[in-house]
Amino acid sequence: MASSVNGAIAERNGGTTFVTPADKKRFVNMALKEGNAVMGMKTFETVKYDSWVEKISVVVLTKRQRKPFGSVSFARSPNEALRMLDTRGFDVALLAGGGKVNASFLKEGLIDEIYLDVEPSIIGDGIPIFASTAGNAELRLKDIHKLSKNEVRLHYAVTSRKRHGK
Ligand SMILES: NC(=O)c1ccc[n+]([C@@H]2O[C@H](COP(=O)([O-])OP(=O)(O)OC[C@H]3O[C@@H](n4cnc5c(N)ncnc54)[C@H](OP(=O)(O)O)[C@@H]3O)[C@@H](O)[C@H]2O)c1
Repeated sequence: MASSVNGAIAERNGGTTFVTPADKKRFVNMALKEGNAVMGMKTFETVKYDSWVEKISVVVLTKRQRKPFGSVSFARSPNEALRMLDTRGFDVALLAGGGKVNASFLKEGLIDEIYLDVEPSIIGDGIPIFASTAGNAELRLKDIHKLSKNEVRLHYAVTSRKRHGK
């Protein structure tokens, strides 16, 4: 996830101009490497025409009934999304936001690691990286990496929530 210094992943109206093109590219490269991405319906609406989407398995969380198309499937819960990727042979699922879906996964103890790219911005009225329903978690810093003159990547392990078991 790319975040402002105060933990916003988008402006309230959904704008993400504070995220640099280089950081968007970093995310796409990660998704191409893992071959999958799990995201909420609102996030999917912002990327559905991007060329990388058809190159990977995309699982979109929605409570509504939707028919899969191309590389895109729909799941009604975090566990269902992970089961879908599991049956396709993936060991790693790349959770790609937004804040509501991140909160759903954290609450159910389904996030193992977090890559947080901190952008040099403060967004006063933004969408938080974890919606308020997330609850709490304890993290351990695994790595820190300076991405550019103004950006850092923080890599955390989630330590206080149960891991997803098969
Ligand atoms: N900076 C970044 O790295 C980054 C990354 C990703 C997204 N974003 C931004 O984040 C914003 C969207 O975030 P958001 O929090 O508003 O929305 P979101 O999490 O992307 O999507 C919310 C929608 O996902 C579905 N959903 C969420 N939890 C679910 C669950 N447990 N089970 C089933 N369906 C579930 C619901 O869809 P239905 O209403 O269809 O049921 C819900 O309305 C966008 O502006 C996007 O650009 C930023």
